[in-house]
Parts: sequence; C-alpha cells; structure tokens
Amino acid sequence: MELLDGRIASQAIQQQLAEAWRSQPDLFNRPPHLACVLVGHHPPSETYVASKIKACTAIGFQSSLLRFPETVTQAQLLDTLHQLNADEDVDGILVQLPLPKHIDEQAIIEAIHPDKDVDGFHPVNMGRLANGLPGFVPATPYGILLLLGHYQISTRGMHAVVIGRSHIVGTPVSLLLSRNREPGNCTVTLCHSQTRNLSQFTREADLIVAAIGKPGFLKGDMVKQGAIVVDVGINRIPDAGKKSGFRLVGDVDFASVAPRCAYITPVPGGVGPMTIAALLKNTYEAARLHRQRS
Ligand code: GUN
Repeated sequence: MELLDGRIASQAIQQQLAEAWRSQPDLFNRPPHLACVLVGHHPPSETYVASKIKACTAIGFQSSLLRFPETVTQAQLLDTLHQLNADEDVDGILVQLPLPKHIDEQAIIEAIHPDKDVDGFHPVNMGRLANGLPGFVPATPYGILLLLGHYQISTRGMHAVVIGRSHIVGTPVSLLLSRNREPGNCTVTLCHSQTRNLSQFTREADLIVAAIGKPGFLKGDMVKQGAIVVDVGINRIPDAGKKSGFRLVGDVDFASVAPRCAYITPVPGGVGPMTIAALLKNTYEAARLHRQRS
C-alpha cells in the first residue's frame, strides 16, 4: 500500500506556479490576483478561506478577502460581484459556500463572470466540462486528477466507482474520469444515496472516489484487493483530546481499507491540500488568459 500524499504533490505544484508567473515578466506585469468572498462565521469556511489566502501569499499571488456579516443581503453580494467582474486588477473570484439560507446560492454563482470563475461552478464552466471543452474545472475534482497525475497513475480502462453525486465533487469527477485523456479513460459508475447494493459496485472497482460526507462510510469488506481509494471526506468529529475540540475524519474507514489498497489518500493531507493547488492553477490560468485578452 502506498500513500498518495497530497501535501507533497500540492507543494510541487505550488512551486511550479511560483516559478511560472515570475519567469514571464512580459506576460505578468503584476501577480495573479484572487478575490475571496466570505459571508458569516462558518468555522470550516473560515479555515478553508484562510488556507487559500495563505497559499496565494506563499507563491507571490495577490489576494483580497472581502468579508460580510451573516445578515448581508443578496443585492449587496451581487453588487460586490459586479464590481469584482469589472475590476481589471482582479483575475479570479471565489465565493465560499455555503451561503446563509436567505441568499440564493445559484444566483450568486451565476453572477460571477465565467472568465473569473476559478471555482468552476458557473453553468458555463460546468457545461464546458460536460462537453469536453476548455474551462475552469472545480478545485476538488481537478485536485484529484492532479494527485493521480503526480503519482503517474494510469487510470486507462479502469472501472471507477464514484460515491456521491454533488455538483462540487461527485458529478464533475465522474465526467472527468470518463474523458478520453489521462487521468481518465475509465468506465465510471456514479453511486448515490438511492443506489441499491452499493457494495456490489465498490467491490468491483479498480478506483473508488468517496465523496458522501459520512465519516468512515467505506469499509474494508467493500473494497477489492489492489484498489485505488481517494477519500474526499473532511468530517469534523468531536474529540476532547484535541485543542480545537475536533479531529478530521474521511469518508473511508482507513484502518480496514488501507491494507487492501494499492494506493490510498490520507485524511488530512490527501485531497484537501490538492484542492488548494488546483485553485491556484485555475487562478494562474485565469490571469494568463486575462493578460492575453487585454
Ligand atoms: N465549500 C466547500 N467546498 C468549496 C469549494 O470548493 N469552493 C467554494 N467556494 N466553497 C466551497
């Protein structure tokens, strides 16, 4: 069993990006700039956004954090997004989800210009992904591909079983793994909460992507010997022994699954850091295309 170490792969990608923008002063007369919008005080969102900003700083990208109280109106957020869309100094825009209940999340996502939509959630970018056209791919699925690529794992001809059909992970990852390029070229089964006999599918899988948000859901007896397991879960479990009061647990029961695997991602330190690397790559690409247009 080999660990797919997202921290190492993410660092390598971040190093490449830091060198890439600095080595092209004619194209990048200023660093790529990511603007993050954060509403309220949802603790995981606070952590994620802080990590994104810190990663930008580490590779010399510019970042802005626009914070709003829980009571912000939809009109105020839409107005902010219109300003960021028009701002020539901003290359990428990210609105951290979830948003408070009184705000229509889809309306917010659709207000981000597709050329600055580095999260890849806008229907234009989702449509490009479904049609195999160039566009921004959501950070978590993109990070999974980058991790498999970093370890030079060929997925050609594999049966991939994706558990979870969210718009952020399950649905895009199933499209990406079925594409005619590497990593990809898989036969994909997308399982979800209504799937009957789920373990019948997972036991057949060469590659499993677990993205359901249920701690320890995938057990050893659901996985065939020699499988590759990618754990997307980041679940907070109360733990009085930790200073934070919680620990992070994936959707995979690591103790029973890992001994059966050829490769497996740990939690933390697997997919999580890769989402940051993927977001930075999207921001770099947004900045590059922005410079070429102007
Ligand atoms: N909330 C959970 N995952 C994500 C993500 O990838 N992007 C944003 N903007 N919000 C999220």
